[in-house]
Amino acid sequence: DKGNHRHFMLKEIYEQPVVVAQTLKSYVRSLEEQVSLPDMDFDLAGIERVAIIACGTASYVGMIGKYWIEQFARLPVEVDVASEFRYRDPVLLPGTLGVVVSQSGETADTLAALRHMKEAGITTAGIINVPTSSMAREVDLLLPTHAGPEIGVASTKAFTCQLAVMAALAVNLARAKGKLSPAEEAEIVHHLVETPAALNEALSHDAEIEAMAHTIAAARDVLYLGRGSDFPLALEGALKLKEISYIHAEGYASGEMKHGPIALIDEHVPLIVLAPSGPRFEKTVSNMQEAQARGAQVVLISDAEGIRQAGEDAMATIEMPKVHPLISPLVYAVPVQLLAYHVAVAKGTDVDQPRNLAKSVTVE
Ligand code: F6R
Repeated sequence: DKGNHRHFMLKEIYEQPVVVAQTLKSYVRSLEEQVSLPDMDFDLAGIERVAIIACGTASYVGMIGKYWIEQFARLPVEVDVASEFRYRDPVLLPGTLGVVVSQSGETADTLAALRHMKEAGITTAGIINVPTSSMAREVDLLLPTHAGPEIGVASTKAFTCQLAVMAALAVNLARAKGKLSPAEEAEIVHHLVETPAALNEALSHDAEIEAMAHTIAAARDVLYLGRGSDFPLALEGALKLKEISYIHAEGYASGEMKHGPIALIDEHVPLIVLAPSGPRFEKTVSNMQEAQARGAQVVLISDAEGIRQAGEDAMATIEMPKVHPLISPLVYAVPVQLLAYHVAVAKGTDVDQPRNLAKSVTVE
């Protein structure tokens, strides 16, 4: 049932404050100011490195997890798409935690990668939405997302719920490795608890995004830029746009622009820049300005401070609430999803059932 919404995708985008809150509720103990995981029969303190395997949108959760786990737990993290991992004979040293991320829990390549890790004798965990799925049954540690059934082929609410659980995993690894004080953990809990409100605030910009969608819908190519944990989000933005609007789109790490992609820039190529204010902001903005100098039409997605500093010459700006870097990928996912959605609607494509795609990819 789509409720009042025209498509499942839009309904699922709007469900995010509720389902992310639902997911966080099973990991965050607000009173104790702690982030916990379900009981496990191994010791997280013994983990020396992490390998995260997934496909598509779920693999971007893995990439964001790499930034978080390396930053907070100081553990090396490798991220792979499952179709590559399973055939390249990866080196899996003892002490590796193998993490799969999957909405369906049935994606053939991810399931095969999980079995490969189990055969190699390493401990596995799974961030999975369907609790009765094959992966959910086979992982050593199930870390459920509580997104509810996701019907739209383009993943939206599963993505933000996966990020919420990935954050919980990063915090638990950090504590187990002695890299996080109770005060630091308490601060993170405060920020996590604010996520649903920040998602609501992000959703309140829907009409502005819709108004701008017609301009983007006329483009042949669209580029997305981000730095740090906003880079995987740039990839997610590009994937979402291409899969439902059939417009060619690419996501790049901002610093990579001058190594090739900037050659694509002219006044016909919209550039979507994901840049919350903070330590990475100025560098991303300077990459954005290099593109603007070559005629790029920029949509800057940032907070009030960032827009004040760098929004002047943009074709459009979308203002996000100012949030902690840990929750910013969840919040910035919203405008990225809404933009893809409204562009697809403007183009008249079948948003919930894009051509050539299946919801669950159970063949390799
Ligand atoms: C994109 C999308 C896909 C899935 C991918 C993995 O919007 O939905 O890229 O993320 O097929 O699916 P799961 O998470 O079920 O393993």
